[in-house]
Amino acid sequence: MHTIFITGGAGFIGSAVIRYLLQNTHHTVVNIDKLTYAGNLASLDSIQHHTNYHFEQVDICDREKIAQLFSHYQPDAVMHLAAESHVDRSIDKPSDFIQTNIIGTYTLLEISREYYSQLLPEKKSQFRFHHISTDEVFGDLEDSAKLFTEQTAYSPNSPYSASKAASDHLVQAWGETYGLPVVISNCSNNYGPFQFPEKLIPLMILNALHGKTLPIYGKGDQIRDWLFVEDHAKALYRVLTQGKIGEHYNIGGWNEKTNIEVVQAICQLLNIAKKEGKLTAYSDYIKDIEDFSSLIQFVTDRPGHDKRYAIDASKIKIELGWQPEEIFETGLAKTVDWYLENTHWWQPILEQRYAGQRLGVDNI
Ligand code: NAD
Ligand code: DAU
Repeated sequence: MHTIFITGGAGFIGSAVIRYLLQNTHHTVVNIDKLTYAGNLASLDSIQHHTNYHFEQVDICDREKIAQLFSHYQPDAVMHLAAESHVDRSIDKPSDFIQTNIIGTYTLLEISREYYSQLLPEKKSQFRFHHISTDEVFGDLEDSAKLFTEQTAYSPNSPYSASKAASDHLVQAWGETYGLPVVISNCSNNYGPFQFPEKLIPLMILNALHGKTLPIYGKGDQIRDWLFVEDHAKALYRVLTQGKIGEHYNIGGWNEKTNIEVVQAICQLLNIAKKEGKLTAYSDYIKDIEDFSSLIQFVTDRPGHDKRYAIDASKIKIELGWQPEEIFETGLAKTVDWYLENTHWWQPILEQRYAGQRLGVDNI
């Protein structure tokens, strides 16, 4: 039984990790989240009264408050997920990404280092700082025969990926220089329930339900490797508990798709749902739509758009025995169903936080 700090636990992946930990382990979880536009405590409704769950609304850049949390809870591990995570927003306003992803990670590392240095030997030997990062740090994978491995050189192209690359380097340096027991994982594109509707899959589902166009950047031929978020949560726990100190682990779905393939697959699922009478609540918007793919519209490309990401996830399979369980077809169907059944989760977001407008082009 340990106490685990989860930063960014009110976000998409962090909330999946918290639900996984509280449903499958006996650990105590402390969720540290600033609650930015992307943070949503409604994603944790199912566990909010769990006796092993605590929530602290704190900015990871706030050194004093973070130090107080370490002193109060005496954590055995930190799983660091808090970040600004959307590439298009990083093009519009990079400063938030520099602040949270770089300064915030630095602040957490410094407090962790001070805390770790004072631990007694037994607790010290168990402590881990797990940094959760992205495959975007490796940049564009032009050679279609290649995959990102743990040895691939960093080559980030967006303000988001550059800030995440910087944070990875800081974590690595704190491990090497100060002996902080760190482990880093780099994952591909996640999808699933509770994802904020600025990201491709939920945006397309919700736009389609409202009869709005489905904006595909460029030609839609960019490739991403998609992983169901609950598989990622399991992989992260495996890395935390069994990963070797100082190591990097790539996490991916072995599931490369072009963006247009993903959007076409969503349209097919919605066509079936409409035929089955599951979309009657949206009939004002979609009564004349026979095929949702008629809503697809090709729009100006994302600036600096990486063409392809693809993860080689052999190391985590061979060394830690993790591999994805969900296949894309069933995972996507579950995701579409979840958005159909959870209007109460996304409706307030569309009304109060983000109405689906194009991001990432105004600043160019
Ligand atoms: P998200 O945007 O859904 O959630 C981020 C969370 O961090 C939010 O709850 C937000 O309130 C919180 N946060 C932001 N700034 C903060 C600050 N200064 N202090 C405290 N909390 C703060 O992000 P996500 O998609 O869940 O991603 C989580 C992590 O996983 C990120 O580090 C991201 O880089 C990484 N990642 C994401 C994906 C993906 O496909 N979504 C893939 C690989 C890696
Ligand atoms: O690869 C991991 C990364 O995946 C994570 O580190 C990021 O946090 C996460 O946001 C995601 O980044 P992407 O930029 O790949 O995700 P996004 O959902 O924004 O876009 C996926 C692809 O779809 C990308 O090629 C851009 C394209 N796209 C996106 C939107 C929002 C469109 O064509 N139209 C859209 O409206």
